[in-house]
Amino acid sequence: MKWMCSVSLVVALTLQPAFAESLIGPHALTPEARDAFVTDLLKKMTLDEKIGQLRLLSVGPDNPKKAIREMIKHGQVGAIFNTVTRPDIRVMQDQAMQLSRLKIPLFFAYDVVHGQRTVFPIPLGLAASWDLDAVAEVGRISAYEAADDGLNMTWAPMVDVTREPRWGRVSEGFGEDTYLTSQMGRTMVTSMQGKSPADRYSVMTSVKHFAAYGAVEGGREYNTVDMSPQRLAQDYLPPYKAALDAGSGGVMVALISLNGVPATANSWLLKDLLRDDWKFKGITISDHGAIKELIKHGVARDPQDAVRIAIQSGVNMSMSDEFYSKYLPGLVKSGAVSEQEIDDAARHVLNVKYDMGLFNDPYSHLGPKSSDPLDTNAESRLHRQQARDVARKSIVLLKNRLETLPLKKTGTIALIGPLADSQRDIMGSWSAAGVASQSVTVLQGIKNATAGKATVLYAKGANITDNKGVQDFLNIYEKSVTIDPHSPQEMLDEAVTTAKKSDVVVAVVGEAQGMAHEASSRSDITLPPGQLALIDALKATGKPLVLVLMNGRPLALVKENMQADALLETWFSGTEGGNAIADVLFGDYNPSGKLPISFPRSVGQIPIYYNHLNTGRPYDANHPDKYTSHYYDAVNGPLFPFGYGLSYTTFKVSPVTLSSKTMPHNGTVNASVTVTNTGRRDGATVVQMYLHDEVASISRPVQELKGFKRIMLKAGETKTVTFPIDVNDLMFWNARMQQVAEPGEFNVMIGLDSVHTNSAEFDYL
Ligand code: BGC
Repeated sequence: MKWMCSVSLVVALTLQPAFAESLIGPHALTPEARDAFVTDLLKKMTLDEKIGQLRLLSVGPDNPKKAIREMIKHGQVGAIFNTVTRPDIRVMQDQAMQLSRLKIPLFFAYDVVHGQRTVFPIPLGLAASWDLDAVAEVGRISAYEAADDGLNMTWAPMVDVTREPRWGRVSEGFGEDTYLTSQMGRTMVTSMQGKSPADRYSVMTSVKHFAAYGAVEGGREYNTVDMSPQRLAQDYLPPYKAALDAGSGGVMVALISLNGVPATANSWLLKDLLRDDWKFKGITISDHGAIKELIKHGVARDPQDAVRIAIQSGVNMSMSDEFYSKYLPGLVKSGAVSEQEIDDAARHVLNVKYDMGLFNDPYSHLGPKSSDPLDTNAESRLHRQQARDVARKSIVLLKNRLETLPLKKTGTIALIGPLADSQRDIMGSWSAAGVASQSVTVLQGIKNATAGKATVLYAKGANITDNKGVQDFLNIYEKSVTIDPHSPQEMLDEAVTTAKKSDVVVAVVGEAQGMAHEASSRSDITLPPGQLALIDALKATGKPLVLVLMNGRPLALVKENMQADALLETWFSGTEGGNAIADVLFGDYNPSGKLPISFPRSVGQIPIYYNHLNTGRPYDANHPDKYTSHYYDAVNGPLFPFGYGLSYTTFKVSPVTLSSKTMPHNGTVNASVTVTNTGRRDGATVVQMYLHDEVASISRPVQELKGFKRIMLKAGETKTVTFPIDVNDLMFWNARMQQVAEPGEFNVMIGLDSVHTNSAEFDYL
């Protein structure tokens, strides 16, 4: 015993000097302890080491693993992204912790946008659930799986409000509405970060893309954004603010220019607004290669200029861009950038590392080597049941003529379409570490549901697209679209023969996942011609036709809506998508999703959104007048409005009752309705509350979502839903950019979509 003690004493004494030098904890996770620690650490760092902290690198062909390890050893890297397994991450952390001079831990990030290994519906689909509990579950599971893989940060949530179905990234966000997006974003942040991003199974979030990326002109990727300060403040900024108020530790800067100034060079955005007004204390990260792009934006003369502008505008960390490391040393030497400016940026990086608990344990998300999973893709690591549950909630029933749905699990079902058996597409874009071979297709889901009861016949019927240029585009980085060896006519014939043998036809049509992605803008949002021809041919068989849509953006579906007996929007629904879709098709789950974005009739109507201004000459469909605001060659209004979605049961909403006809200054009014399930099945729906400020100093939207509640009602059941309304719901940015609530009349509208509402009025005093 005595001997053992003395040995441990010797060991302790021998390790003492090294330990004293070590930065590794325990440290109290408080802002005060962090500031003291980081201040002290910065004093120990060379200029090059500080600049190294500002560098965020992706492992890939440009940066092979070996080269990265060398850079880490020399303190030239602050963080890594796009590496997603514990063994790979461990090697890099070992390099930093064993061979770099100061042994500052790296952090590891990835685009965990709608799941890590278990893939959930794309964010647009999550928004369609209007279910914050479900979204919180997605956040928790995504963070759990990401942290379990060794990651510390995610590039999510993406809260770019958009009114642009042409924009491919509409799939990554939560739709067109500010309030809904804010709720979704906030929920993602709190669920992913948990109590603290330092916890074993939490990750830090990085809300993106700051700011207003979703408003790119014409929906063309990376294009310009130009908008009034009122619209920016009122409609586009609140979701970022909500995510930051919820504690998001990171902000990713948008690639676009806003009112002429690229976001990466926008000190008003990144300093005045973010730091001074919003008091943001975390880290700002440029988007991929954005610093370089300042030259092409035409605001920087050369690389040095770009670097100086970015750092002085408030970009702390540079993503996949060697410009900071290359040019900052010279800029500091020449005095164009001060060492204080480098310190400020490095401090933010070190602060978030501290908040992630990395100075307490650089391996906290890795554990000992012996604990690495033997099979990283192991089935046992997936959360299938939760994925199925959330996916069912995200599905929106758009049409159901004569109760075509739910289908019976008997007879013969023809399952047709290029997306019916695609494991890759159903996961959607940004599917993180999800593995296509683990996802359930619609074909598999329907077979699972009907096993031993019905006959399922399958024919592909058409390719996703027969356009060679589009096929090549979709396969540039990932060979994800395969073209059938049969001719389009042969495929069509087979589909028709299959349909004729069946009692009902279910056609799964839409987009390949790569059609709704970054850099996937479309000038046309209809289905590709081959798929349209397929629908025509199936319709001609006279069989009941169910169209299952799989897509990442609103599509223009006027004719298809007329042809289909039932229309089901399933987005890209993830790992368990096929089972979830089958649950809805056969009525094992009663659909309750609601559109988080308007579906236009044609591309020519874009932008079309529910919270528009009234104009001086609004169009009235009941009294059409030539000199009013409309297109003479189209029906006014969207095909499917914001908030819309059917159920297998029916609901009735009562007139709105108010607790008072007046709202005192800074007081509240409660608006209530009763909702009754008037059908034969139990079902959930989403009660939506909209407000309209009838007369104000600037024209206000005809309606704005200010509250929603998802409720479950048994057949015949009635529930009362009450929305408290207070002054915050009445506020807007006036012509002088002051946030005000003006006295006057307000209209409260409550309904189960944005069009069919009951209303009541109150006065704000
Ligand atoms: C995207 C970001 C993403 C980043 C890293 C960029 O191209 O715009 O949203 O987080 O790549 O993958």
